[in-house]
Amino acid sequence: MTRGRFITFEGIDGAGKSSHLDHVCDLVRAAGHRVDKTLEPGGTPFGARLREVILSRPAPALAEALAVFAARAAHMEERILPALDAGTWVVCDRFTDSTYAYQCGGKGLDPAAVRTLERLVHPCLQPDLTLLFDLDPAVAAERQLAQGRAPDAFESRSREYFTRVRDAYLERARESITRFRLIDASQPFEAVRSAVDLAFRSAFP
Ligand code: TYD
Repeated sequence: MTRGRFITFEGIDGAGKSSHLDHVCDLVRAAGHRVDKTLEPGGTPFGARLREVILSRPAPALAEALAVFAARAAHMEERILPALDAGTWVVCDRFTDSTYAYQCGGKGLDPAAVRTLERLVHPCLQPDLTLLFDLDPAVAAERQLAQGRAPDAFESRSREYFTRVRDAYLERARESITRFRLIDASQPFEAVRSAVDLAFRSAFP
């Protein structure tokens, strides 16, 4: 049995990545594979409870990192690895790049701490493809306001914070150019969709 592939979606809040998740799942199915769509923090009953806490109560960066990795440990063991082992492809809204971007880039946590947690929780797994939806935080904030989305504890942070998060993402993309595909999320919806299609087809020809 061929192992499934692991696809992750990343980007700052309001970059619009979530509206393309179902489409990528359709592309996976069209290519003849089973797919499991999931998200972080979350993805298991344990992770879902942690998600409520994490999103509603800001905490020191290390505490947040430990909490997202606690959820991730359950997600790996109970859902992601069993799916991949069974040949199912996994499409995940956010993964460990979010921790580097938000807790390290945004809140100043030493990346060495995240590397340690990463080695513990998923020593042998990295995404096969990461779609990074890149957008100026000012544009992302305007879009969220226009959609009438009430900011949660994470989203109500400052523009400077999201600029640091964005820069940390871009730095990670530069470090792993074969895994990442950068999507210019400032384009109209259809153009973003075409970029997603292109990224998928170039990763899985
Ligand atoms: P969510 O409402 O799902 O945001 P979005 O729809 O933009 O994906 O909230 C997830 C939040 O959790 C988001 O602000 C990023 C944050 N987060 C971290 O700070 N670290 C992490 O490791 C993960 C997975 C998420």
